[in-house]
Order: sequence, then C-alpha cells, then structure tokens
Amino acid sequence: MKIVVINGTMVRGCTYHLKESFLEPLRAGNEITEFYLPGDAPGFCTGCKVCFMDSEDKCPHAGKVRPIWQAMLAVDLIVFAYPVYVMRAPGQVKTLLDHFGVHWMVHRPKREMFTKRAVIITQSIGAPNGAAQKDVRTSFHWLGVSSVRRLGFGLMEGVIWDELSEKRRRKLTTACRRCGEKYVAMRPARMNLSVRLMFAICRMLQKSVLKKGVHSTDNRYWIEQGWIRGD
Ligand SMILES: Cc1cc2nc3c(=O)[nH]c(=O)nc-3n(C[C@H](O)[C@H](O)[C@H](O)COP(=O)(O)O)c2cc1C
Repeated sequence: MKIVVINGTMVRGCTYHLKESFLEPLRAGNEITEFYLPGDAPGFCTGCKVCFMDSEDKCPHAGKVRPIWQAMLAVDLIVFAYPVYVMRAPGQVKTLLDHFGVHWMVHRPKREMFTKRAVIITQSIGAPNGAAQKDVRTSFHWLGVSSVRRLGFGLMEGVIWDELSEKRRRKLTTACRRCGEKYVAMRPARMNLSVRLMFAICRMLQKSVLKKGVHSTDNRYWIEQGWIRGD
C-alpha cells in the first residue's frame, strides 16, 4: 500500500507526534511519502486562472504543486495532519488546497480519486477542530474522495509536546495508533452516493455547456475521459 502524508507544520511537535503514532502500525511493508508545509507548499494562488483555462502545468507554482498532486494520485491513502490555527486550517494548507481547485468535480476531476481513502488529523489547545477540518474535508469531497475519516484532539495541558503529562500523551497517541490500525488491511473505497450524485450533476452540466457550442478545456477533458460524447 502507498500512503502520502501532507504535514501542515514543519515543527516536530504535537501534530508530528500524533501523525507518527497514526503511521506506526502502517510503517511495515508500506511506502510512505511525506510533504511538510510551508516548506514544500506552493506560493499563494495568483488568480491567473491558467489552470482552469489552459493547463495546470502552466501554473506559476506547478513545480511545487505537481509532486504533491502526483503523489496524491499514486497512493491508496492520503493523510492530512495539521494544527488548528485561529480556529481554522493553517494558511499553508489552504494555499495548497487552492491549487487543487482545477481538479474539483466541476472542472477536471481525476478518476483515481474516487476510490481513495483519506484521513484528517488535527489538534488544538482546546478549541473545536471541526471548522479547521472542514477546509480539507470540503476539498476532498469536491475532489471525489468517498472515504474521509477525521480525528481531532484538544491537547488541554499546553502546546509543547514534552510538557504534556505522560498520561495525556499516551491517551492521544493511543487514539491515533488505533486509528492507524484500521488501515492495515485497507481496501479501495467504493464511490459513495454523494460523490456519484455530484459526478452525475457535473456530467449534466458539461453536456449542457457542450450543447451551447462551448469547447472549454474542462469540456474537452470530459470528452477525452469518455464521460460525455463530443459529437
Ligand atoms: C498561529 C497559531 C494559532 C493557533 N490558534 C489556535 C486556536 O485558535 N485554538 C486553539 O485551541 N489552539 C490554537 N493554536 C495551537 C495549535 O492548534 C497547536 O495546538 C499548537 O501549535 C501545538 O501544535 P504543534 O506542536 O504541532 O505546533 C494555535 C497555534 C498557533 C501557532
């Protein structure tokens, strides 16, 4: 099995330890690729729209985006692990997600995404994690990923890993390791109902665009994929 981990921080702190615990049962026999943001992150989307109109290869940040996107396409399991910043996902995570917009279902989705599984691991001092997870969850949904599991924690005792009590650290790491164990004998996900529905709606949309005689890059892609007929 192949796994890619997008780490939302380069600090080897709390997020790092939780993610390591999750990966512990998955280390043997699996190929794990990791990226660390912001170091591996692209620059902010400039809004040029060249990805939508022409090709994502012409994005000014393609050099940074492509390796991450290619790795995501090649694996069975995608993991996002990041701390909560001001109640939301860190900016570097959002910046990366912005560059995947071109592969959202309404544009040029990749069929490989439909059978992937994903896990989102987040932690905060004590704030709810839901809003921060939603940024990534929304992207997974529109990229067509059917199976997304979320793990969110409140550290409660501080923000420095070594300063948390051993009892707290053990509780957090055990929860992550147990979650990792669920993926040891993982199978590809089945395309769920909401992804199927979204795909069907986008297909209708692409058909109606074609009827109007518009031949957009997105439209040509849907024809190439055999999802709509070009004649
Ligand atoms: C810029 C910044 C903003 C943060 N915002 C919040 C927040 O709104 N609520 C919260 O409970 N923790 C917040 N935290 C704490 C982090 O979620 C996290 O617990 C802390 O950074 C430790 O994780 P790390 O060792 O992986 O960096 C923030 C931390 C930073 C650096």
